Amino acid sequence: MRTSPFHATLRRQWAADLTTAQLYAFLRLRSEVFVIEQSSIYRDLDGRDLEPGTRHFWLEVDGEPEPLAYLRLVEEPDGTFRIGRVVTGRAARGRGYSRRLVEAALSEVGRVDCVLDAQTYIADFYGSFGFVTEGDEFIEDGIPHLRMRRSR
Ligand SMILES: CC(C)(COP(=O)(O)OP(=O)(O)OC[C@H]1O[C@@H](n2cnc3c(N)ncnc32)[C@H](O)[C@@H]1OP(=O)(O)O)[C@@H](O)C(=O)NCCC(=O)NCCS
Repeated sequence: MRTSPFHATLRRQWAADLTTAQLYAFLRLRSEVFVIEQSSIYRDLDGRDLEPGTRHFWLEVDGEPEPLAYLRLVEEPDGTFRIGRVVTGRAARGRGYSRRLVEAALSEVGRVDCVLDAQTYIADFYGSFGFVTEGDEFIEDGIPHLRMRRSR
C-alpha cells in the first residue's frame, strides 16, 4: 500500500528476533518523542520490550534504519493484551501510520481483551477501534491519560 509521499512497509517482530539495531532505533524514536518532545521523564525501559510474548510493530521506508512509526504489543499476566508506546516521528504524522499499526496489532489480538493507557488528547483515535474508557482520567509522568479497554 502506498501512503504518500513514502512507501512505508509494515514490519512485525517478536522480541527474540529483534536485531540490536532495530531495538536501538525503536528506543531512539521513543526517547525523541516521549521524553524530549513531550518533556516527560519516565521509565521507558520498563523491562517489557524483550519479554517472550512481546511483539514490536513498525513502519519503515525500505532501506532506511529509522522507523517512521512504532508500537509494541505485550501480553499481560491475566491473559489480556496491552498496546503501548504508540508513536510516529514528527515529520511523518498525519499519514495514517499509527492507524495502520494499531490495526495490525489488533489483528493479532483477535478475540481477546486488549487494554491501553491513552494520552487523553488522542483517546478518540483509540475509541474508533472500539476501545472504551475505564475510570477517571489520571496523570502519569505529567501527562493526562485515560485507561481504555477493547472487550471481546
Ligand atoms: C498520536 C500519534 C501517535 C498519531 O500518529 P499519526 O501517525 O500521526 O496518526 P494517524 O495519521 O494514523 O492518525 C490517527 C488518528 O489520530 C488523530 N490525531 C492525530 N494527531 C492528533 C492530535 N494531535 N490530536 C487529536 N487527534 C489526533 C487523527 O485525526 C487520526 O484520526 P483519523 O484516522 O480518524 O483521521 C502521533 O501524533 C505521536 O506520536 N504523538 C506523540 C506521542 C503520543 O502522544 N503517542 C500516543 C500515546 S497514547
